[in-house]
Amino acid sequence: MTFSVWLLVCFCGLTLGQNVLPQTEVASETGSCFPDMCKFLKEFGAMKEKQEVMETRQKETENQVLELKKKDASNIAFSAAIGGSGSNGHIGPFSTDTTIIYRKLIINVGNAYNQHTGIFAAPVPGIYYFTYFYHAVGTQVVNLSLMKNNEEVVTTYDHKTSHDVADNGGNAAFLQLQQGDQVYMRMHANSHVWQNEHLTTFSGVLLRQL
Ligand SMILES: *[C@@H]1O[C@H](CO)[C@@H](O)[C@H](O)[C@H]1NC(C)=O
Repeated sequence: MTFSVWLLVCFCGLTLGQNVLPQTEVASETGSCFPDMCKFLKEFGAMKEKQEVMETRQKETENQVLELKKKDASNIAFSAAIGGSGSNGHIGPFSTDTTIIYRKLIINVGNAYNQHTGIFAAPVPGIYYFTYFYHAVGTQVVNLSLMKNNEEVVTTYDHKTSHDVADNGGNAAFLQLQQGDQVYMRMHANSHVWQNEHLTTFSGVLLRQL
């Protein structure tokens, strides 16, 4: 728009210049000015157009930076241990399946993990990574599953033995989650884990938003 106005001015300048040229000395002097003016206007118009293109690009870059910042702000990561009221001991065995509640937060960026229910709810669709580790006594069964909604994703099992004192185990999985999908640890009936501030843990992180 601006550029075409400049072209119009330029064109008028040329026409004027041609009209006045042959008449007087003054006119011819003035006329000799016009081509320069026209060149200047043309260059100015081109500069203006370039500047507009640059401004548009800058706006686009700024928007991309904002978009990246927004994505960064939606980072999700948690780690929690079962904890315990100052003392060690085991949870279970119970006669039914139970959700393990990891009460001792190590980190909870984005607050997607609920330390009162033990349930992680995906705040955004994406690829997530979950791990869990347990400590248990060897004389009892351990039977734990990482759950996605009502589906068992990965499981860890340890047999009851009389000759080993302690067991440590764990498992991990990448999961593609929709917004609102729930991930949590299920302790199956008749199994147990050791509760402690550090030993039995559950962690998850958003790797990539989809
Ligand atoms: C673990 O518990 C599940 C659910 O109760 C059960 O189906 C499975 O057999 C148990 N695992 C083993 C190895 O016993």
